[in-house]
Amino acid sequence: MDKNQILEKLKTINYPGFNRDIVSFGMVKDVVIDKNNITIILSISSQNEEKKNQLVKQISESIQIDKFDVKIKVLDQPARKTVDTSNKDANVEGKIKNIIAVASGKGGVGKSTVALNIASALAQLGYKTGLLDLDIYGPSLPITMGVNENPQVVDGQKIVPIEKNNLKLMSFGFISGNQAPVVWRGPLVAKMTEQFFKDVTWGELDYLILDLPPGTGDVQLTLSQKIPLDGAIIVTTPNDIALTDVRKGADMFKKVKTKLLGVIENMSFMNIQGEIPGMNNQEILINGKTVKVENEHFSFNFHLFKKGGGLEESARLNVPLLAEIPYSEDLMLSIDKGEPLVQYDSKHTISEIFIRVAKSLVKQYE
Ligand SMILES: Nc1ncnc2c1ncn2[C@@H]1O[C@H](COP(=O)(O)OP(=O)(O)O)[C@@H](O)[C@H]1O
Ligand SMILES: [Mg+2]
Repeated sequence: MDKNQILEKLKTINYPGFNRDIVSFGMVKDVVIDKNNITIILSISSQNEEKKNQLVKQISESIQIDKFDVKIKVLDQPARKTVDTSNKDANVEGKIKNIIAVASGKGGVGKSTVALNIASALAQLGYKTGLLDLDIYGPSLPITMGVNENPQVVDGQKIVPIEKNNLKLMSFGFISGNQAPVVWRGPLVAKMTEQFFKDVTWGELDYLILDLPPGTGDVQLTLSQKIPLDGAIIVTTPNDIALTDVRKGADMFKKVKTKLLGVIENMSFMNIQGEIPGMNNQEILINGKTVKVENEHFSFNFHLFKKGGGLEESARLNVPLLAEIPYSEDLMLSIDKGEPLVQYDSKHTISEIFIRVAKSLVKQYE
């Protein structure tokens, strides 16, 4: 039995809640084999005791070797530093005036789309803006911005953000996989999250928009403990399940005293328009709904989910409902262009919504 064999086994064990194994996370500090004893030494920076215990249990169940006594030792972590917001730059490479997180309770609600277009709108308003995609489960920037190059590493460890569409970009997706710069290999997600601030040469930014992973996981924990967030925006769809999750997310931000800037309800409704030649000033029935036809045209909003969910939630949280973004095929298809809708069609009604939101954010920070 040698150390490598044990390591190979450990490589098949994922950190609870992640699709990544504990060895590549850098959680395995050492494996010591001494006669009939195997000691696995772990270093886990998460404060989540439940996950730690779960992991220890998982390891002891999967590493059982005849005639060997397997022990697992979890190293004590030094207490986390609390963030001194009067001295933000202490934790961040470059000078970033405002860090705003875009969060959601669950995936698929349009968080990345919203983050991207708000960032783009801020850039269009003339602010130096960065977009940091921290969604480790589904990094979106490589696709939405069509970036498939690896970021440059300078001075051995500083990572240069990729510049495209007037934005400075960084993403878990740029550095994962085998071509990841050496500096990113191994460390914990928490460490990586922190490195995205410390080791990326953001330079001077007015706004850094964070696209968070859904829910309230380790990335959020690191952020709330180590990075001084200036505000958070919650994205939700109007349906109820999403709203329950929104509550959890929003409550987390409240707990760590991050200012909630507001709620954005996405895919609120679908605007349906049509033409009926020869018809004027008459009512027709569509899906049981009376719709007026004027000058051969009609237009109405079809609500796919319960109406007003986002509004109710923003009232409960006592924060503004920043926008209700309709379902829009153009917004969805803009992904194929690798360019935010706000940028290539700034006059689009959806773009105008994002620009209005960006302006209202700027107002809060000026
Ligand atoms: N308002 C919208 N109208 C139509 N499609 C949308 C809208 N918002 C997001 N989408 C689409 O929904 C999918 C999920 O959006 P995404 O931003 O990736 O969500 P998340 O980051 O929350 O997982 C994507 O295919 C995106 O293009
Ligand atoms: Mg996303």
